[in-house]
Amino acid sequence: MHTVHVRLKGRKEEYEIAIGPGLLGELGDYVRGALSPVARRVVLISNPTTFSHYGDSALRSLRKSGFKTSCWLMREGERYKTLRSIENALTSISEAGLERHDAVVALGGGVVGDVAGFAAAIYLRGIAYVHVPTTLLAQVDASVGGKTGVNWSTGKNMIGAFHQPRHVLIDPRTLHTLPPREMTSGWLECIKQGAVGSRSLFNQTVRLLAKRNEIGQEDFDTELANLISMHCSFKARIVSGDEREAVDRNDHNSRRILNFGHTIAHALEFVTGYRRFRHGEAVGYGMLAAGDLSKRLGILNASDLESLRAGIHLAGDLPPANDIDVNAIMSALIHDKKSVGGHIHWVLLEKLGRARIVDGSEVLPSALRTTLNRALRTKTKYVER
Ligand code: NAD
Ligand code: GLY
Repeated sequence: MHTVHVRLKGRKEEYEIAIGPGLLGELGDYVRGALSPVARRVVLISNPTTFSHYGDSALRSLRKSGFKTSCWLMREGERYKTLRSIENALTSISEAGLERHDAVVALGGGVVGDVAGFAAAIYLRGIAYVHVPTTLLAQVDASVGGKTGVNWSTGKNMIGAFHQPRHVLIDPRTLHTLPPREMTSGWLECIKQGAVGSRSLFNQTVRLLAKRNEIGQEDFDTELANLISMHCSFKARIVSGDEREAVDRNDHNSRRILNFGHTIAHALEFVTGYRRFRHGEAVGYGMLAAGDLSKRLGILNASDLESLRAGIHLAGDLPPANDIDVNAIMSALIHDKKSVGGHIHWVLLEKLGRARIVDGSEVLPSALRTTLNRALRTKTKYVER
């Protein structure tokens, strides 16, 4: 078992991420340990698919630890990451009678986590939440760092709050039921973290990706748990130093670097109505574009760009994007919530393992257009599954 500590600069609170096969059965003990002794009630937020696999086991464990439980299952998919879902979540939490020391437990991927976390952030001005991420993407990224929220008519994740979880419990065995496409999406976030984090994290990710179909399940689970722990440690380090993604930080350790590939990814998700791409797949295209832009501006060499592209392709095939109107993406970029004074700050690469933040004024619209055309027309052998 691995334990990663998330310590936040200037704050007394810290929390743990526990990672280990079979930990779901101990959920109740972990939640009990993370809350005040007077906590009595828990609302489990999940969706029908995840709940059908792991809901009973989670509830059993919570009840064994003395919690009164109730559940709210949100509808499935990114397009339900909305304020309407928050309203429904708050109604369930309030009907369950949760008090200030009680908690919300999120059982699911990043969508469930973002919605449950935001509902917990605003109910009674903030109650505890515990995340049990069940997708690879959520295990290496979305469950760590306290970003919660929903999409809005002007773009993705436009409304939300920073609200750190009280605990994160990762059971890599929950990935056994995850569809291949969702695994690809998670691997792509791993590639992202390696690309901006360190060459070693990138290489370790690519190494496991390359042999994932050639090793037995048990060895794979052990190696994956190890890799997940490295990714969580990396993300915890970045979040610890820059919890709220300070707008005036442009260094290669600022939280902003985690948005590598995301400026274009969010625009792609938005213009396709959150229906075509899994989040990680959109990030895959976003990284192809950001990598190309980095080389075009003369800050990344050709060999590192090739390694980045190879890593992205190794993660799996991306749904085609060659019919998407580049003009629609360019206008969606205007609403990027990470812009400052109307300028987008591009997270680019100066080498694999090191990001550089570049002011949008340095990126000519013509260069961006060429880059987008090239990235979106990337050939893919994608087959709908
Ligand atoms: P998701 O939550 O939509 O889950 C993907 C699908 O997998 C869903 O259909 C779900 O029902 C299913 N599923 C989940 N666990 C399963 C399991 N173990 N077995 C079988 N099916 C399972 O998608 P995601 O990729 O986990 O998360 C993407 C979301 O996370 C996006 O909204 C993105 O914006 C957000 N995100 C947030 C942060 C953050 O820091 N808060 C970081 C990265 C991404
Ligand atoms: N996924 C980006 C962040 O957590 O900051």
